[in-house]
Amino acid sequence: MNAAVQTISSTPFDDQQVGTAGLRKQVRVFQQPHYLENFIQSVFDTHPGFEDSTLVVGGDGRYHNDVAIQTLLAMAAARGIARVIVGKNGLLSTPAASHLIRKHDAHGGFVLSASHNPAGPDGDFGIKFSVRGGGQAPSTLTDAIYARSRAITAYQRLDVPPIDLGQVGETRLGGMTVQIVDSTQDYADLMETQFDFDAIRSLLDSGFQFAFDAMHAVTGPYARELFVHRLGAPESVLRNAVPQSDFGGGHPDPNLVYAAELADEVVTRQALDFAAASDGDGDRNMILGRGLFVSPGDSLAVIAANTRCMPGHRDGIAGAARSMPTSRALDAVAARQGFEAHETPTGWKFFCNLLDAGRIHVCGEESFGTGSDHVREKDGLWAVLAWLNLLASRPGQSVADIMLDHWSTYGRHYYERHDYEGLKAEDAEAVMDALRQQLSQLPGQQFDALTVTAADEFAYVDPIDGSQAKGQGLRVIFGDTARIVLRKSGTGTSGATLRLYLEWLREDQWELRLPTQEVLTPLALIADRLCRLKVITGRDQPSLVT
Ligand code: G6P
Ligand code: ZN
Repeated sequence: MNAAVQTISSTPFDDQQVGTAGLRKQVRVFQQPHYLENFIQSVFDTHPGFEDSTLVVGGDGRYHNDVAIQTLLAMAAARGIARVIVGKNGLLSTPAASHLIRKHDAHGGFVLSASHNPAGPDGDFGIKFSVRGGGQAPSTLTDAIYARSRAITAYQRLDVPPIDLGQVGETRLGGMTVQIVDSTQDYADLMETQFDFDAIRSLLDSGFQFAFDAMHAVTGPYARELFVHRLGAPESVLRNAVPQSDFGGGHPDPNLVYAAELADEVVTRQALDFAAASDGDGDRNMILGRGLFVSPGDSLAVIAANTRCMPGHRDGIAGAARSMPTSRALDAVAARQGFEAHETPTGWKFFCNLLDAGRIHVCGEESFGTGSDHVREKDGLWAVLAWLNLLASRPGQSVADIMLDHWSTYGRHYYERHDYEGLKAEDAEAVMDALRQQLSQLPGQQFDALTVTAADEFAYVDPIDGSQAKGQGLRVIFGDTARIVLRKSGTGTSGATLRLYLEWLREDQWELRLPTQEVLTPLALIADRLCRLKVITGRDQPSLVT
């Protein structure tokens, strides 16, 4: 049967500029006729070379995932793409998709996800486009896609019925091969090359109490393959491990607020040695030890300091990178161990050139993202395995012991992020302006015991290709001691969100185990004096502190 290519007239939508990580909107925006199709066609029109090539497609399983995948397949077939690799049941975690793109040298991939944003008919949906090599499309490309989306007049699709995504194997759609894969095998094979599975197996077998919470999202099947099938842990280590289209009605963001039950069990009631959680599409992670939460910046620093116990980085690392607002705990490790440290704008895509060039091997962000050069996305389960590998290499030491040891060597960067969500766009801008206008006068000024040594609006020149990113957040720096950072979120779907990041280094032994809030409250007061956030927005509390 020869299916017909249909050309369907359309008119542009004016809001298809991608944010920090893909095009993310409310589900009902994506349900508008032609909305998703216009975006996909804009990608196809802007990014040549898809003919005779491979495309990887999958998503986090949220509501609308299945509908969107069938649309993508029908359009890919009309485009003349030779082969599409699709995750079984339409599921691919973001890092597993990146791995498949790399493994099959695919020309690109689509991941359907709005990350940790809630799902369901009233929730969010999203689409991320990745290029050859497995990293998200760079800004030059997303700008071109946006320009195309403003001028689009038609798109093409093959007139075919939906195909069954539940059966692993090959099928044809017009002239295109559709290969449905169980990506948990490929992904777990990759993890076995990175970590010492024998050592982790022994740890898990030694009475070590561990739990992993998939938050009803995509990592459940991957976690089962890794922890239960390959590492021999009982099924009971898995929590919420069956992906649901509404993520069980929850907010699959692994932090102390949205994974509160797990945090209560491990941090407050101290019932387990170690626990972790991941987000909707499997790229974020949260690490908990008996009695403590490991902040993402600390987790990155500890992993970077200890890669030699992990087979994937047995020879150490050439360099590491963090996004600008992420704590400088990593820099302290780099300085002492003598590897390169890079500071990039928020967004994983800024790490990719450095990873490709071999300049960095480990990187991470305050937004609960950690990863390495094994793929070109952050990777939640990779971080969990890195911690298990580290714990296995230090028999008898707890997470708390490892942290104390780390802080004793490098000092402790106390850290908090205060989010002010759902602000009016003009209020958020006014707060940014209030601080921006003072930046040039701040150096030399004293605030309590702190003196400003530098203050600027962060701009980045990529050391590999010279591309520039401006307006990446405001920073007020008090030497190596403290920092205040203020930036506008690039991932929200309603209103504007401001993020205020506070960081303070303490190095004396007696200062290593203070309550974070106690250390950072004076800095929060200084920040508020500088940007007048409370007065301008009328909010006396952040909506969320992580
Ligand atoms: C996504 C990206 C991350 C980034 C985060 C920042 O999760 O994948 O790389 O750090 O967004 O989001 P924000 O809302 O702060 O712009
Ligand atoms: Zn995510």
